[in-house]
Amino acid sequence: MSAKIISGTKIAEQIRKNLKKEISELKKKYGLIPGLVTILVGDDPASQIYVGQKQKACENLGIYSRRIDLPPETTENVILSLIRELNKDAKIHGILVQLPLPKQINQQRVIYAIDPDKDVDGFHPVNVGKMVIGEKSLLPCTPHGILELLVGSGIKTEGAEVVIVGRSNIVGKPLFNLMIQKRPAGNATVTICHTKTRDLSFHTKRADILIAAIGRPKAITRDMVKDGVVVIDVGVNRIGKTPEGKAVLAGDVDFEGIKEKAAAITPVPGGVGPMTIVMLMKNTVEAAKRIADCRLLIVD
Ligand code: GUN
Repeated sequence: MSAKIISGTKIAEQIRKNLKKEISELKKKYGLIPGLVTILVGDDPASQIYVGQKQKACENLGIYSRRIDLPPETTENVILSLIRELNKDAKIHGILVQLPLPKQINQQRVIYAIDPDKDVDGFHPVNVGKMVIGEKSLLPCTPHGILELLVGSGIKTEGAEVVIVGRSNIVGKPLFNLMIQKRPAGNATVTICHTKTRDLSFHTKRADILIAAIGRPKAITRDMVKDGVVVIDVGVNRIGKTPEGKAVLAGDVDFEGIKEKAAAITPVPGGVGPMTIVMLMKNTVEAAKRIADCRLLIVD
């Protein structure tokens, strides 16, 4: 048996097509142009690539975008006052601060400063709280992208044993909260494993759907999964460079070893990554529509 390869690139393309149509209608009917600002502090090469991809995605869809790159020594006060300005900026509907931030900046204080209505990452405690209780909110992009990936590839989650490896605020924790809910790609029985889990293999071998968000290349090996598992690999690890200087990437999963055993698996790159970006675009459009609606209500 060889696994079905779940193409995030293809599923993201379909979502992008629909978004493009919606954006052009918003422009035509209401003169509304969704706007996203990205803020990058420092010169981490991976973060620079991610921000570049987000900017390019805006450009391709007709979303107004602004890129603010700040030096590594930027103070917390500078970034906080910048966010306060952007909260008031009518052209901007989404504010994305690329993480991680340098050590002198308190990440939580920065996230708290963003207007929850413009929090297109879904990281503000107001949005996290709404997500946990199943209220409509801006959902974090990678977990939301994974849900869409599962729905788009016809993978049933109801009653399934889902095992998530990794307990981050960006992926593991939100994904757990979403997949236990009564919603598409939900109704699962979900376990979270982490660095202090006593016997990782015990859990991963039970998984019908295994989601790896560890940040360590090829940490999940063939002997750790059962036949017919569905594997979602969130990891993007740089394991070397080609002679041309391009990064060689590996996921958190040993793709070659596991693909003979799995029913379906996401590749790296081309799996979760493109979904994260397109969900950010979707959130920006969603934020713009909500903010515009509020303005109409105020005028009325
Ligand atoms: N760094 C890694 N993933 C993310 C993400 O989804 N959003 C932001 N802002 N930073 C990240």
